[in-house]
Amino acid sequence: MTDLDISIEPDHPAGAGGPAVSILGTGMLGTALARALLRAGHRVTVWNRTPGKADALVADGATARRTPVEAVAAGQMVITSVSTYDDVQAVLTPASDGLDGLAGRTLVNLSSGTPDQARSLAAWATEQGAAYLDGAAMSGTRLVGRPDALFLYSGDPDAFAASEAALASLGRPAYLGADPGAASVHDTALLMMNMGVLSGFYQAVALVGAAGVEAPAFAATATDYLPYATGLLADHARQIHEGRYTGDDGTLDVYVVAMGHVVDASRRLGVGIDIPATIKSLLEQGVAAGFGDDGLARLADVVAGR
Ligand SMILES: NC(=O)c1ccc[n+]([C@@H]2O[C@H](COP(=O)([O-])OP(=O)(O)OC[C@H]3O[C@@H](n4cnc5c(N)ncnc54)[C@H](OP(=O)(O)O)[C@@H]3O)[C@@H](O)[C@H]2O)c1
Repeated sequence: MTDLDISIEPDHPAGAGGPAVSILGTGMLGTALARALLRAGHRVTVWNRTPGKADALVADGATARRTPVEAVAAGQMVITSVSTYDDVQAVLTPASDGLDGLAGRTLVNLSSGTPDQARSLAAWATEQGAAYLDGAAMSGTRLVGRPDALFLYSGDPDAFAASEAALASLGRPAYLGADPGAASVHDTALLMMNMGVLSGFYQAVALVGAAGVEAPAFAATATDYLPYATGLLADHARQIHEGRYTGDDGTLDVYVVAMGHVVDASRRLGVGIDIPATIKSLLEQGVAAGFGDDGLARLADVVAGR
């Protein structure tokens, strides 16, 4: 061996499938993340506050560590998946003081919180010498590890570029820009959208259920109907962006009457009216503001208080 052949063994060597990954928090999400990374060939180290919860992962090939400090030291990429940002900070603050801390590692936080919490954690992680990515797991736990699981990320662009292949083991990674709060902003917005769709579905299930249609049968019809609704998104977004609301899909005047039918039908069938009455009220506000001839997308202005 010549002087030039001397190589230094890293303290956290990459596994066959990419960087060594440490996961802090092996609750429902952390466990699914660890499984997906193990399947993709990563060297996975796990830590969980309550010992024993990671035993099944160890049986699958992960290494469990007794402290966050030891777990952080084992990973080039450190993923946090604990309940809140306060918990993330509680776990990482001691870890950042121990061994060589977070310096030189990429911290990916997948715990849910607010955009400001994400920005503040990013600032703290940067002070520790870590590259920071904030993430949002948008598809629950069941799909984790499959390309149809959507994960949103924002933060350090270089860290995302370097981590993208490893993050793709968890699901489809979508990068939303350098603002660390962007993933959380989208997470909040998409949660709202999902709850809107599902609340509407539950109202619809109650309505058809009162007429004797069972939920599974209705779900099939509703699934056939959804492409019409999703097909409107891009066009309505364009209308909102341009501030021009064509009424060819129905005007606010038309929808006020239609939602009046939904409220009346719900009441007659003994089904709650909170959801349709709220939507009808928003439409009425739009009509009262003089937008009755505008298309449904004008409701975006009413909701936004413009
Ligand atoms: N599950 C999902 O489908 C999903 C999807 C998207 C986002 N998320 C987000 O991912 C995060 C984790 O969710 P989860 O479903 O995995 O929850 P979970 O099953 O309830 O697990 C919570 C995890 O956080 C740990 N934890 C809580 N407080 C802690 C503290 N002070 N110090 C150290 N560890 C602490 C728990 O440790 P112990 O075992 O010791 O209690 C456990 O590992 C949440 O922010 C959630 O909103 C979850």
